[in-house]
Amino acid sequence: MACVADIRQSVIRGSRISLRPVRDSDIQTLFRWDSDEEIAKWAGKKFKTEEDAKDWYLSVHHLQKRSWIIETTDGNPIGEVEVTNISWRLHTGEIRIVIGEKSMWNQGLGEDAIRTCLSELFGSTSLKEVFLKVDSRNLRALRCYQKVGFRTEGKVKLLGDEDKPRSILLMRIAREDLLHGGAKGAYGT
Ligand SMILES: CC(C)(COP(=O)(O)OP(=O)(O)OC[C@H]1O[C@@H](n2cnc3c(N)ncnc32)[C@H](O)[C@@H]1OP(=O)(O)O)[C@@H](O)C(=O)NCCC(=O)NCCS
Repeated sequence: MACVADIRQSVIRGSRISLRPVRDSDIQTLFRWDSDEEIAKWAGKKFKTEEDAKDWYLSVHHLQKRSWIIETTDGNPIGEVEVTNISWRLHTGEIRIVIGEKSMWNQGLGEDAIRTCLSELFGSTSLKEVFLKVDSRNLRALRCYQKVGFRTEGKVKLLGDEDKPRSILLMRIAREDLLHGGAKGAYGT
């Protein structure tokens, strides 16, 4: 069985997208997506400068994180998906996705990208469960994750900005859920 080091260089093909490793020439685009206010509202802003983005995607190299560019079949980069906080002891990881080109939202490409990423991870590494955190108001993302087979396992109340409370949902998918269309979570979603 491959470890994550074996899969990081390969192109992974989905139905309507491909996942490929991040290149130096992607950094400007990744920084633009990270700086978009609407995207940052849901995904958070990570980088102050392009150098920060370069460090995150290209210099910081360890076995607990992998990132891919999501490309359409004609080779246009439209987003990124990454798996972080990988525990090879617990066989778990956390997934995060951004479709940075907003004109491409709501076409099923986010679902395709997550399925493609998880199929590869569950099929060729020892990962067995993947988690994610999502703002409970992010209905598009929630619907996307539910389509893949993620189920809500917990809810955390946060103070939020300007003392407006908000909730984060913790969602989970196991290897067999992806193959068999999902299991019921604690919140029944
Ligand atoms: C979240 C995101 C990755 C989803 O990717 P996507 O390609 O748009 O997702 P999909 O098209 O596969 O699925 C979106 C679903 O939400 C539905 N949807 C859109 N707006 C909705 C709303 N306000 N309420 C309910 N459902 C909604 C779409 O109709 C679609 O469902 P359908 O296929 O049943 O019609 C992408 O929109 C994105 O990057 N958003 C900004 C950053 C972000 O939120 N990242 C996730 C942080 S946890």
